[in-house]
Amino acid sequence: MLVTGGAGFIGTNFVHFTLAERPDVEVSVLDKLTYAGNLMSLADVADRINLVVGDVADAAVVNPLVAAADVVVHFAAESHNDNSLNDPSPFVHSNLVGTFTLLEAVRRYGVRYHHISTDEVYGDLALDDPAKFTPNTAYNPSSPYSSTKAGSDLLVRAWVRSFGIAATISNCSNNYGAYQHIEKFIPRQITNLIDGVKPKLYGAGTNIRDWIHVQDHNRGIWAIIDKGRIGETYLIGADCELNNREVVEVILELMGHHPSDYEHVSDRPGHDRRYAIDASKLRAETGWEPMFRDFKSGLANTIEWYRANEQWWRPQKAAVEANYAAKGQ
Ligand code: NAD
Ligand code: TYD
Repeated sequence: MLVTGGAGFIGTNFVHFTLAERPDVEVSVLDKLTYAGNLMSLADVADRINLVVGDVADAAVVNPLVAAADVVVHFAAESHNDNSLNDPSPFVHSNLVGTFTLLEAVRRYGVRYHHISTDEVYGDLALDDPAKFTPNTAYNPSSPYSSTKAGSDLLVRAWVRSFGIAATISNCSNNYGAYQHIEKFIPRQITNLIDGVKPKLYGAGTNIRDWIHVQDHNRGIWAIIDKGRIGETYLIGADCELNNREVVEVILELMGHHPSDYEHVSDRPGHDRRYAIDASKLRAETGWEPMFRDFKSGLANTIEWYRANEQWWRPQKAAVEANYAAKGQ
């Protein structure tokens, strides 16, 4: 199995999960080690994987790795909306050209491909809309991040239809758990509180995200690899819609602070209001169900992980916060 982006948040958890649950699978990781890739995340399994440092948009690196694989699971991407507003260029390169390069290799060598994507390709829902995203929702991305992810999904669909590659796609909601970069919402607030800094809510804090534990996402990916139908798109979500203020209140409470001890900062331009996933197709076709049903206890474990692994995130904290401060966030 070739795992791209295996040194990032979800990819690292996927590699650990796969080595633990599927010991028969030989894992190669292709990762460029951008600011978001961290070799420390794979240190404890380094002798069990074949790690290649390289770019998914580099055909000379990609082709032999794909040729040697039975299945490719493609996580590698630029993944942060706020960064995509500062500079969209690496998003176009990694998310679009990178996916194109992999698809061409998959087509040439006839390898099974699973494409990791996001619910953000569907744009957003109104806060009071009872609807959720389904696999039939029209694409309507808002940001450079989500538009390049949407474009990469459409490339996959076209390569299935035009060239008959054996591919599946999953679009997942917001993940939380260990090894998530501290630029992202939940680990930023946890590490802020460890540093004695108040959590920062964009705007009014009423935007809603549908949270899923990274382990449940990865179990969903394996369910699709095992049982998914070729050419199909599956949505992965755990029915856990919360607004950002509610999430911060839980973090504050779990870390021993008053739940109102946060502050409001500048909003994100074009900020998507609400994401919500209908995962009934995945449930019906594969039998997948989330195991982390209690957000508060999943979050408590995540907080423990950041407390116990300060050496993992500390080197990046000052630079991440300086970037946000420059934007009034
Ligand atoms: P991340 O930013 O933590 O990790 C991305 C990894 O990809 C890093 O290790 C980075 O070095 C690597 N990478 C980036 N560009 C590369 C390139 N050109 N070549 C090789 N490697 C490259 O991201 P994440 O949160 O783990 O997200 C992984 C995937 O899951 C992405 O495709 C993302 O769109 C998708 N996704 C994320 C979420 C979420 O909540 N984080 C939700 C749904 C879908
Ligand atoms: P994020 O983790 O960037 O994920 P995404 O933009 O892909 O949903 O942000 C999650 C939500 O939290 C989003 O509504 C933006 C908001 N947010 C804050 O309120 N404060 C912060 O410091 C950050 C980083 C995000």
